[in-house]
Amino acid sequence: MLFKIVLLVHILSSLAIAASQDLNFIYSGFRSTNLSLDGLAELTSNGLLRLTNEIMQQTGHAFYPNPVTFKNSIDGSAFSFSSTFVFAIRPEYATLGGHGMAFVIAPTRGLPGSLPSQHLGLFNESNNGNQTNHVVAVELDTRRNIEFNDLDGNHVGIDINGLDSVRYASAGYYSQLNGKLTNLTLISGQRMQVWIEYGGMEKQLNVTIAPIDVDKPSRPLLSLSRDLSPYLNSSMYIGFSSSTGSIYSSHYVLGWSFKMNGLAEALDISRLPKLPRLGPKKTSKFLTIGLPVLCLSLVFVAVSSVSYGIRRRRKFAEVLEDWELDFGPQRFKYKDLYIATKGFGDKELLGSGGFGRVYKDPQTTHVVGTLGYLAPEYARTGKATTSTDVFAFGAFLLEVASGRRPIQPAEDVILVDWVFARWLGGEILEARDPNLGTEYVAEEMELVLQLGLMCSQSEPAGRPSMRQVVQFLEGDTPLPDISLLRLPASNLPFSRFDDFALSSMGKSFSHTSVAESLLSGGR
Ligand SMILES: *[C@@H]1O[C@H](CO)[C@@H](O)[C@H](O)[C@H]1NC(C)=O
Ligand SMILES: *[C@@H]1O[C@H](CO)[C@@H](O)[C@H](O)[C@H]1NC(C)=O
Ligand SMILES: *[C@@H]1O[C@H](CO)[C@@H](O)[C@H](O)[C@H]1NC(C)=O
Ligand SMILES: *[C@@H]1O[C@H](CO)[C@@H](O)[C@H](O)[C@H]1NC(C)=O
Ligand SMILES: *[C@@H]1O[C@H](CO)[C@@H](O)[C@H](O)[C@H]1NC(C)=O
Ligand SMILES: *[C@@H]1O[C@H](CO)[C@@H](O)[C@H](O)[C@H]1NC(C)=O
Repeated sequence: MLFKIVLLVHILSSLAIAASQDLNFIYSGFRSTNLSLDGLAELTSNGLLRLTNEIMQQTGHAFYPNPVTFKNSIDGSAFSFSSTFVFAIRPEYATLGGHGMAFVIAPTRGLPGSLPSQHLGLFNESNNGNQTNHVVAVELDTRRNIEFNDLDGNHVGIDINGLDSVRYASAGYYSQLNGKLTNLTLISGQRMQVWIEYGGMEKQLNVTIAPIDVDKPSRPLLSLSRDLSPYLNSSMYIGFSSSTGSIYSSHYVLGWSFKMNGLAEALDISRLPKLPRLGPKKTSKFLTIGLPVLCLSLVFVAVSSVSYGIRRRRKFAEVLEDWELDFGPQRFKYKDLYIATKGFGDKELLGSGGFGRVYKDPQTTHVVGTLGYLAPEYARTGKATTSTDVFAFGAFLLEVASGRRPIQPAEDVILVDWVFARWLGGEILEARDPNLGTEYVAEEMELVLQLGLMCSQSEPAGRPSMRQVVQFLEGDTPLPDISLLRLPASNLPFSRFDDFALSSMGKSFSHTSVAESLLSGGR
């Protein structure tokens, strides 16, 4: 009997020792917690972990300060672990995130040498994808990067040693009620919870995400069946990484719990620190005075523009030629030209030549502030030059030939990047407007798309002149091989212009399509 009790005590105490060695913590807010922070990461006075702020092109890291034992010293197999955290992402622009955040397990504290922007503070251009990294991360990625084969600008991914996720899915969760997948918007600014669970026996990593007021869904969003032992070192650091590009988001973590060899303790949502309030509340005066005045003015504007419109329509009425009845109007409307040239006045005259007088580009005033048509140096300096016109013309060519907008707001894809990626893949014709069916000449389509790319180079000196453009289009001069162009060594030659244009144009940019407005009334 005594022997049995001694044995029991012995077993219990050895279990207790094993358990006490297993890391287990819960942070309901981070007030006076000892985290290792670097870059933009900071703890706010009310206990939020703020990984990034408004400073561009920076990283932010927050790591649990001590190393964590991840592997069994006897057979080198990775332990089970589980972690959960609550986060919120407040973007600069409602529809564009910059760039995302990740839960990360890394051999070093703080990931030295990592890059901001699309690298999320996890990797850099030289070590991305390298098996010697020993980094496992779960990314909440709010930008689409074609170079990493990202699905969209709103996805969750499991990253092993690189940003090309081994598993990924658009952010969402499987409803407990009906099993349906419900979408989530990472940059909604709302609080959401993530659960990360690894089973050392099953060798399976599950990732689940849900809105703050939804219990943990039983079906994970991502499930990776893979033994993590080869990727993890015995001693690792755990924490969060985030980054800003030329567009930024504020990435917050509100609470975090972790447990080695067990289920992480559930976070008590009511105990989490509050997020900063969004914008001041100033509705009362607006509602009582502003709104009625606004309504009255709108009615006035509507009435006067209708009557003005009727008068103008008579003035600008034009006749369609016979062939246009078949093919639709194939020209600028007289009206557009009349307006653009201020009634063909001399002030708007650029010059005269054998083919008539040349007036300023009818769309110049419209192009200002139209995202995707702004040359990067124009966004920077505000100076329009013939090169910025060539850039805009390139965007116009690509838009017309591909039938896509320069920036697809929903997909967060930059058209130039998209066409360039097709070209890199040797399939530039894939970029053509699918509505064309088979009704196009392959050589011409290729010419227009390649010319569009040439004109869209971020380096003004690399763009052709308008005279050359005309020569290329007329087939007088063969198009140079665009792979010979001086393109910046790293990355795509265009990928930074969107960020730049956006950040310097403030919030007044528009997503309207120039091709659409130019051709409106046509087709
Ligand atoms: C935080 O943790 C580190 C690493 O364990 C330790 O060196 C440091 O003294 C701690 N700081 C505080 C304020 O407890
Ligand atoms: C991680 O483990 C690998 C081999 O298992 C070793 O080469 C490397 O130095 C380790 N990294 C760190 C930071 O300890
Ligand atoms: C990339 O990161 C690695 C590992 O942190 C570092 O050793 C290397 O110097 C970095 N490379 C560059 C080009 O910054
Ligand atoms: C991976 O990184 C190691 C160590 O930094 C380096 O020696 C090796 O060349 C890299 N491998 C590749 C494919 O870049
Ligand atoms: C959810 O998101 C996916 C991917 O972005 C999209 O294809 C799908 O239509 C969305 N579903 C709903 C109901 O919005
Ligand atoms: C991962 O999710 C699947 C499906 O719900 C479940 O069967 C499995 O037990 C989970 N694995 C871990 C390690 O939680």
